[in-house]
Amino acid sequence: MHLTKEEERLYNGELGWAKQVCMKILVKLGELFDATRLIPIDSAHISGVSYKTLGEAPTDFLEALAFANEKTEVEATLNPQSFDPEHLRKRLPKQLLQKQLDILQSFKRMGFKQSYTCTPYYIREPKKNSHLAWAESSAVVYANSVSGAWTNREGGPSALAAAIIGKTPNYGVHKASNRKPKVLVKVEQTPKCEIEYGALGIFLGKILEDEIPFIKGLKNPTAEDLKQLGAALGSTGMVNMFHYKGGIAETVELEKVTVEPKNIMEIIEELSTATSSQLKPDLIFVGCPHCSLSEIREIANAVDGKKVRDDIEFWVCTSRCIKEKAKDYVRKIEASGAKVITDTCAVVTWIDKLGIKTIVTNSAKTAHYAPTLNKANTMLVSLKECLKTALKE
Ligand code: F3S
Repeated sequence: MHLTKEEERLYNGELGWAKQVCMKILVKLGELFDATRLIPIDSAHISGVSYKTLGEAPTDFLEALAFANEKTEVEATLNPQSFDPEHLRKRLPKQLLQKQLDILQSFKRMGFKQSYTCTPYYIREPKKNSHLAWAESSAVVYANSVSGAWTNREGGPSALAAAIIGKTPNYGVHKASNRKPKVLVKVEQTPKCEIEYGALGIFLGKILEDEIPFIKGLKNPTAEDLKQLGAALGSTGMVNMFHYKGGIAETVELEKVTVEPKNIMEIIEELSTATSSQLKPDLIFVGCPHCSLSEIREIANAVDGKKVRDDIEFWVCTSRCIKEKAKDYVRKIEASGAKVITDTCAVVTWIDKLGIKTIVTNSAKTAHYAPTLNKANTMLVSLKECLKTALKE
């Protein structure tokens, strides 16, 4: 890999051990994937912020970087952590919270934005064709496919190193030639709601591995539909982007895959692990990935003047940035007894410590992960059905 004189100085430790470690991470990664150089990035987004998913070992490294007075070189946002300061903080064990607060403190010292969201594109939509170093698979797929930005799927350490150095190696989808579709996916019946988009993503992730699809047959999807599709695609596969509009695919000879309605139905069934004896849910969870302003508006209008059942929790997860913009809607939602939760989600907090064993959700990604990561049973149903289950008659 070619390094500039300045990069060589960083690599050799002339500007401190912390920058040297970050450079070594980036160069190692670049060499592994035959990158020729480092390229500047507009922003970085870090995953592995929740103590629940991060664990003990990396926290010492984070603390050491923070105390070496390293600062982010570009705008750098953080993925969700493990608790919501308003609603969950008091309900979780103190020693876990302290561990989490130590991690957040390290990030804060380094200048990371206290965003705690998996939808950094709602804070500032990345510019078309700009290079990013984002971790969090759902955000990566959205940035590449919907915003038109260019980012590989970084791991926590490489996104952190890119944030400190302000650069990333030029491999993968940072190269135009690697962004071309390899498979033409023909969707026989356009998905009717968000859970069908999610199920389509889960199905394609399983069969495509890392091959970029051109998906034909999506009629007027909303940005939120595409968010569900991308989040699910990133959960079961290594695909970092999809194409869905324009006519590129017609011009190339591509392998073809057809998705039949029964494939989607089977995935929805698979993702609903709760048996009929567990049908009384403990939690209705909406907001994976974190809700947009228009999703919050839709929920607020639907619950206005109604009440959530006393025996069920209803969480609407979003970012601080959207909650701030949606104050009136938040008031309506919370008047119903539902909670608008920021900074975290049902997957990255300790729901077992909150006594939650069964989750009803409209997110295929949550339904995919919750049985293993949270040991919870799930029901995957549309927002309409979530609301029906949550609200009193
Ligand atoms: Fe975000 Fe949590 Fe889903 S981090 S993508 S809401 S699993």
